[in-house]
Formats: sequence, C-alpha cells, structure tokens
Amino acid sequence: MNRRLGVLISGRGSNLQALIDATRDGRLDASIAVVISNRADAVGLERARRAGIEALCIDHRASPSRDEHDRAVARELGARGVGLVCLAGYMRLIGAPLLDAFPNAILNIHPSLLPAFPGVDAQRQALEHGVKVTGVTVHLVTSELDNGPIVIQRTVEVMDDDTPDILGARILVEEHRAYPEAVRTMLDGGWRVEGRRFVRSVNAASA
Ligand code: GAR
Repeated sequence: MNRRLGVLISGRGSNLQALIDATRDGRLDASIAVVISNRADAVGLERARRAGIEALCIDHRASPSRDEHDRAVARELGARGVGLVCLAGYMRLIGAPLLDAFPNAILNIHPSLLPAFPGVDAQRQALEHGVKVTGVTVHLVTSELDNGPIVIQRTVEVMDDDTPDILGARILVEEHRAYPEAVRTMLDGGWRVEGRRFVRSVNAASA
C-alpha cells in the first residue's frame, strides 16, 4: 500500500495532530499528502498548515448532492496520489464514489468499543448505559455508519465519577496512540478481510 495519507476532518483535529506527530518522530513511516475538511472553520486545517501540509476545505453545502461532494473529495485525494484515507473526526457518512475510489483503504476512529455506541456522543452513551469498560475502535469504513472490519481496539476503564468530558479525555489519549498504530498495521500489509473480520497473517502480527 502506498504510504501517502489523506486525512479528512470536520473539527478540532487532535487525531490529525497525533498522525502528524507520529510521521514526524519516526513512529509512522508515512507522509500526509493532504488534509481535507468539509468545514472551513475546522481548527484542524490550521494544524495542518502549521505543519506545512496542504489543507483544503471542500464544503459539503456547496455540492449539489452527497455523491457530488464525495466525488470532489475523491478527486482531490486521487490527484495527490493518496493510498490510504484516514477519517479523523470527519462527521460525514462516506458514499459509494469515495468507497469505490479507495476499496478497503479508508479508516475511521471512533471513541467506543464498536459495535457498542455508534454515532454521536459515544462517551455519553457509554456513561448512560453504565458500562464499566469502553474504549477506542479503528475500523475500515463501509457504507454503514461506524461499521466495517475492526483493525484495532483499545480499552478504557469507566470510573464512577466520570463525566462525558472527563471520560472523553481519557479515551482521547488512547485514540492518539491507537490511530498511528492502526495506520502502521494497514501500511505494513500482510492482512486480509474475511467477511467482517480483519485478519493479520502470523508474520505481520508478530512484527
Ligand atoms: C474523536 O473522539 C473521534 O474518535 C470522534 O470525533 C472526535 C474527533 O476529535 N469520531 C467519531 O465520533 C466518529 N463517529 P479530533 O477532531 O480532535 O480528532
């Protein structure tokens, strides 16, 4: 898999920052070719520019349809030779034009142990359900929200006095570790998808 990443964001971009840091300090042998946000006010765009990475806004409201927006995003990623797309707080469903352009090559990070608590406010959902353990999932993206074969999961303990923000901050620490690791796993190869399962060959898993 080619090691040029495209990162899609909608907001703060702390996971984008974790990926930037990992590519700069040698933990991740990859380069970020472009960062694309669907919102002009995403703080993450500024993080990218500060790091000298090309940063674009492709506003979904300017496209006549979801497919047109996805096509525009796919075009920009393709023009920059991106091999792996990382959704990092990108709050949009991904449609066929983008999925078809990057088969099994789009990752998403989500702040829960999927399939528990998909969608928005995963941390609040976990607290309200009363689970004792939650965590982080990095998975391949399919047409269904927060679905798709799971590449990596990390657990985070839930404390009795947690609020969504306090729990979210602890989950975020794990997100920032898990995302570069999942990207490395994808780029190193030696994996296959069997039905819902992301399976690593013995050699890749022990590397
Ligand atoms: C992260 O917690 C990420 O897991 C979540 O949005 C946040 C973005 O933060 N994504 C989802 O909930 C996707 N369903 P960031 O912009 O600081 O990386």
